Amino acid sequence: MQPNKRAFDIANIRADFPLLAQHVHGKPLIYLDNAATTQKPQIVIDTLQTFYSRYNANVHRGLHALSEQATAAVEHTRQCIAQFIHAPSANDIVFTSGCTASLNILALAFSQGYLRAGDEILISAMEHHANIVPWQMACQRSGAVLKVIPINDDGELDTAQALTLITEKTRVMSLVQVSNTLGSINPIKTLIAAAHAHNIPVIIDGAQAVAHMPVDVQDLDCDFYVFSGHKIFGPTGTGVLYGKSHWLEQLPPAFGGGDMIETVSFERTTYAKPPHKFEAGTPNIAGIIGLGAAVDYLQQFSFADIDKHEQQLLARANHWLAQTENLQLIGNSRHKAPVISFYCDDVHPHDLSTLLDYEGIAIRAGHHCTMPLMQRFKVPATVRASMSFYNTLEEVDVFFAKLAQVRQQFQ
Ligand code: ALA
Repeated sequence: MQPNKRAFDIANIRADFPLLAQHVHGKPLIYLDNAATTQKPQIVIDTLQTFYSRYNANVHRGLHALSEQATAAVEHTRQCIAQFIHAPSANDIVFTSGCTASLNILALAFSQGYLRAGDEILISAMEHHANIVPWQMACQRSGAVLKVIPINDDGELDTAQALTLITEKTRVMSLVQVSNTLGSINPIKTLIAAAHAHNIPVIIDGAQAVAHMPVDVQDLDCDFYVFSGHKIFGPTGTGVLYGKSHWLEQLPPAFGGGDMIETVSFERTTYAKPPHKFEAGTPNIAGIIGLGAAVDYLQQFSFADIDKHEQQLLARANHWLAQTENLQLIGNSRHKAPVISFYCDDVHPHDLSTLLDYEGIAIRAGHHCTMPLMQRFKVPATVRASMSFYNTLEEVDVFFAKLAQVRQQFQ
């Protein structure tokens, strides 16, 4: 344990999350769908309740006490997030409605004047749809072309191929740090440096990374880093777009409206400085303040302790996977977050998911918004169990025991 950090006591941690004590279909809940969304600690729930019951008001507009209090809380969260990802300034933190919104804002901005016909946008084969579709739309708008870094059979990025795909035609690279389906942790620092050698800006989709590992945007040297609040124990409908200040200064805003302007007349509008330039309209005030509480909560712990526990969960899952017959593991990267995806020939993933649900086990089955990955591994869908620091080794054991039982029913 690091000094000044809370002891990693799993029972104590679980007591912070009221939902984890629930029963589902009469069975104790085993929540293994953390890549979809994480549960919320009581402090986040209380923060939302306090906002709505004590100081609900709009921000940046009113001069009354409640508005000032709400504004201060939102701006405090901006500071918190900047410190959490080690951004140089709170002004580099834009609040959005989620990672998808952040990526759309960037793809739209880059396709307005920056991308030209024939330019290349580089992504990878393991991107979530949120880091594919907005770039396809950007290609339609600009005439740019999408290029895809392939992966190997273990679900690792082919870095040698990546280096050959980074050329003088590449104008932007947007990569996932941790795959939501495979769990693969990508060598983004190396790829960012390679792109920068060609003056190519790099966007990192950190949606599946921020809850599992420390992120230092200055050390990574990425130009943009985006993530969702709800995957990091915060409220849904919140997200972050970090950008280097010179990029936020020069990119156009995606939305126009209140709060993002300096002056407006019918002839001409001038925009506010970043981050407000990208925050038109009333933001998700309660959500943002709740996200601040979530980040404060998470920072009580050391990521070394979190990682150690999560790697034990993954090792236990791998132990059971190795003993499970007729199962195709999708994603066996050497560097992995605590996510397992697999396909069993005998039972469709959706049936497995439904039957496990009756046992109180929440997992996700489907394509996980990564259809190209399903095509790459020639499976229609996978079962995915995604773990968080509040899961226990016993939960992993029960999951595999119930999985075996359920599969028996189909023999
Ligand atoms: N992107 C989320 C997931 O992987 C929804 O489940």
